[in-house]
Amino acid sequence: MAIFHSSARSSEASFEQNCTAYEVLREQVRAVQSVSIAGGGQKAAGIHASRNKLMPRERINTLLDPGTPFLEVGQLAGHGLYEGEVPSGGIITGIGMVTGRPCMVMANDATVKGGTYYPITIKKQVRAQAIARENGLPCIYLVDSGGAFLPLQEEIFPDEHHFGRIFRNIAEMSSLGIKQIAAVMGSCTAGGAYIPAMCDETVIVKGNGTIFLGGPQLVQAATGDVVDAETLGGADVHTRLSGVADHFADNDLHALSIVRDIVARPGPKPFAPPPQAPVAPLYDATELPGLIPENPKQPIPAREILARLMDGSELNLYRERYGPTLICGTGAIGGYPVGVLINDGPLFSESAQKAANFIELCTQSNIPLLFLHNISGFMVGVEYEHGGIAKDGAKMVNAVSTARVPKFSVIIGGSYGAGNFAMCGRAFGPRLMAMWPNARTSVMGGEQAATVLALVRQEQLARQGKTFGADEVEAFKQPIRDHYAAHSTPAYAASRLWIDSVIDPADTRQWLAMGLALAHNGPMEPTRFGVFRM
Ligand code: COA
Repeated sequence: MAIFHSSARSSEASFEQNCTAYEVLREQVRAVQSVSIAGGGQKAAGIHASRNKLMPRERINTLLDPGTPFLEVGQLAGHGLYEGEVPSGGIITGIGMVTGRPCMVMANDATVKGGTYYPITIKKQVRAQAIARENGLPCIYLVDSGGAFLPLQEEIFPDEHHFGRIFRNIAEMSSLGIKQIAAVMGSCTAGGAYIPAMCDETVIVKGNGTIFLGGPQLVQAATGDVVDAETLGGADVHTRLSGVADHFADNDLHALSIVRDIVARPGPKPFAPPPQAPVAPLYDATELPGLIPENPKQPIPAREILARLMDGSELNLYRERYGPTLICGTGAIGGYPVGVLINDGPLFSESAQKAANFIELCTQSNIPLLFLHNISGFMVGVEYEHGGIAKDGAKMVNAVSTARVPKFSVIIGGSYGAGNFAMCGRAFGPRLMAMWPNARTSVMGGEQAATVLALVRQEQLARQGKTFGADEVEAFKQPIRDHYAAHSTPAYAASRLWIDSVIDPADTRQWLAMGLALAHNGPMEPTRFGVFRM
């Protein structure tokens, strides 16, 4: 077992400088977070409160066991999209403990355009359901929504991963024995009515909760009848006449306590503690920002990171002397075993083959995998192409794709091109994926993209007998660099749900331990690998 001993603080001056630079990055993330958490603003919040409704975050706090953490997923969704109209994507999602059981909570924010579903709202709810399904978590829907955001109907209604998928997921999870519970605390209109109607059990709040396929406006347009919302589909109607809901609640607090009672009923199995005692690392995780060079072109010291993330700063290294640009090994985080892959340079054939072997070994022992990305990509050049780097990279991508043990991805530096794929980028199904505030991701770096496109342009002009002067090249390249810089940040990635969270380096251990705990208690599938090209 290798124990990582840190020497990183020997250069106090650069440590302090890095810490100062990191504060700026943190501040950028905090600014975006505060906009997301604010919801639909003061005026909408005032109207919401005047209806005797709790705010969505208050609802979640009331629902969860006191003093337990809420692992929020997709907090920055929607940031900067739709001209800033949809903070948090209009729905708050995350995992929290309810009567001692972890549950996925999804709470519409009615202060954001009446809680209506934008494309990002649907993407976020479907993502939350996917996490719930993988980990076997009961789902709690705190419904308060006007249904589809009608001006964007073609982006939310007809396609495979659009609105209908939410209802299909409810039915499928219910069929797998994963509890589906709805509390209707506001509107629940049209397609949205299928959320409570399809859940295993539904609570509805007197006065505020309504469920109908067509609201009063639609009824008037279709039949000419004028009817108020309560008479059409309020709590009394649905618990006494229609049977669409099961439990009548006097107010939000009452509804949330009924939901807690439903979750508390005996379930399949209690939540198990970690298989071994958690051990703090030898070095403080709060030192991590000081170890990340201010200049992103300088390498991040992988061993120093591991010394602050792993239990006891320990990792059982796999093939330490072979393919050393990828460090692989098994250890634990928060008492949960994990196989770690962290970049310490570009990926070569040897490191990719080593990774594929290491992943095979972890799947044999049902050990979850953690990918810590800091990768510019696979090594390029004649020597490496002739050596078959494409087929060796494919082995790694194959192993990452088909390994059925729980996978986790954290981008701690750069994550570019095929390196992102090999290190279990979003397309490869990590159970949770995050970026640090300093991290960046794109198909290649901005400078490389600008140079590639400038060379293509130069060749086009040469064919036309024209030249591409140095000033023109520079004028051509700069907007490309700027575009890549703006579109590769953690906030940009999180706003589009390419990642689940932006996490601080100091919080990473806790975030991973929660993910590993859920995976440890969730279902585990057997792995069947595909054909590895030799
Ligand atoms: N699509 C697009 N925008 C909608 C919307 C919808 N389905 N429902 C509400 N909005 C907008 C409103 O235009 C308003 O926008 P604004 O703030 O820019 O003026 C905002 O959401 C809030 O609506 P408002 O009616 O002021 O809030 P409320 O809290 O009093 O009522 C609803 C909210 C959802 C109950 C009510 O707006 C409603 O009944 N909407 C229609 C729901 C419907 O029929 N949906 C069918 C979906 S298939």
